[in-house]
Amino acid sequence: MSLNDNSRFRVKPGGAIKGRLVVPGDKSISHRALMLGAIADGNTTIHGFLQGEDTLATAKAFQQMGVEIDNDGSLVRIKGVGLKGLSESNTPIDLGNSGTSVRLMTGLLSGQLFNTELVGDVSLMTRPMLRIINPLRTMNAELVCSEKGTLPIKISGGHHLKGIEYELPVASAQLKSCLLLAGLYAEGETTIIENQATRDHTERMLSAFSHSVTKNKNRITVSQAEKLVGTEIIVPADFSSAAFFIVAATITPGSDVVLENVGVNPTRNAMLKIMALMGADIELQNERVQSGEPIADIHIKSSDLHGIDIPEELVPIAIDEFPAILVAAANATGTTNLTGAAELRVKESDRIQSMLDGFIATGVQALASEEGMTIEGGRINGGEVNSHGDHRIAMAFAVAGLVAKGPIVINDCENVATSFPGFVELAQTAGMSIDYV
Ligand code: S3P
Repeated sequence: MSLNDNSRFRVKPGGAIKGRLVVPGDKSISHRALMLGAIADGNTTIHGFLQGEDTLATAKAFQQMGVEIDNDGSLVRIKGVGLKGLSESNTPIDLGNSGTSVRLMTGLLSGQLFNTELVGDVSLMTRPMLRIINPLRTMNAELVCSEKGTLPIKISGGHHLKGIEYELPVASAQLKSCLLLAGLYAEGETTIIENQATRDHTERMLSAFSHSVTKNKNRITVSQAEKLVGTEIIVPADFSSAAFFIVAATITPGSDVVLENVGVNPTRNAMLKIMALMGADIELQNERVQSGEPIADIHIKSSDLHGIDIPEELVPIAIDEFPAILVAAANATGTTNLTGAAELRVKESDRIQSMLDGFIATGVQALASEEGMTIEGGRINGGEVNSHGDHRIAMAFAVAGLVAKGPIVINDCENVATSFPGFVELAQTAGMSIDYV
């Protein structure tokens, strides 16, 4: 491994988190704005787009399918081609590390007249895809994947999709969104029944593109679309990226920080409740709605945390925040129990195993189960941690380094750029002693 590349972080303990910070744009919302903008009629402009590797993979995919996307690094302009205006890519579409791109695009591309092959990086090629393929097949889509139920996915176009009623067997917004996007192309209505709430950005964004989705208790229905209408979208800062600074400021004595313009959609923000139950001092200021999404400034002051049993019903709406929350638990007094979180095992890495490995390396007492983890809070030692190529594991242990008994070195951090370009630089501005080594 070469020295001073972007693949290893070293964090020295000490310092407090201060100031007013702006974390990059929301990943989930940026993906959806690109996808709907591409298949809308007319132009779409996206402000605050996440310039991360995952969302850039989605942009490149639509460019490969003939969509003009102009990205000047701050503003993204899309010339929508209409629901049926995409063209076949000459080569397989590589979606890198991005599960959201694959799952949502498979739904969208099942309704096209042409064939598509989707591939990804080593991590993405192992993630479960039958959860989307099986219900899409019942809609009359034709798809094949590997024997293991993973990428590559080959989608055969030209099939007449039919709406279905489908109860989600896993709490997954990617699965729900996949089927809603296929539903735009399907005869009749597509109804998704979700027994646990998951992020509703697709539903909100379809409304912003003038195609309404109806919600009746836990039944979400979309009808076949005649057209979507291009629009202007303002993407809030990503709550899942803010999560690292929420924990950093909470556990580091003397911290006082405001995170500006953060998306606080109630189907995303359960971490605030979990942290409040643990004793955190977090206040939402300046709450408002922008492009159909609730946003706020989040004010965090350091405080002493205590362990809790994390309520299971909050797990799906805090799913991406668990690496950060588990670091908070490692710094709390007493025991924290996480249950009902088996989905963590099929993220960018097996996040239960990756967090356990990191805790073992830094002397935190933790026990993993199939669907969760028990942590005895207290001491975090210095040490060397492997991120397993997972952006959120890397950033979680960077935050742990603030209060460790010695420096923490984190290996394999390149993928931080998938969701949080500029993490190290922003963390330095905030007061962390973090560097590339
Ligand atoms: C996402 C949904 C979640 C989340 C992922 C983004 C989305 O995945 O973990 O980072 O944008 O819909 P699942 O649907 O697999 O829970």
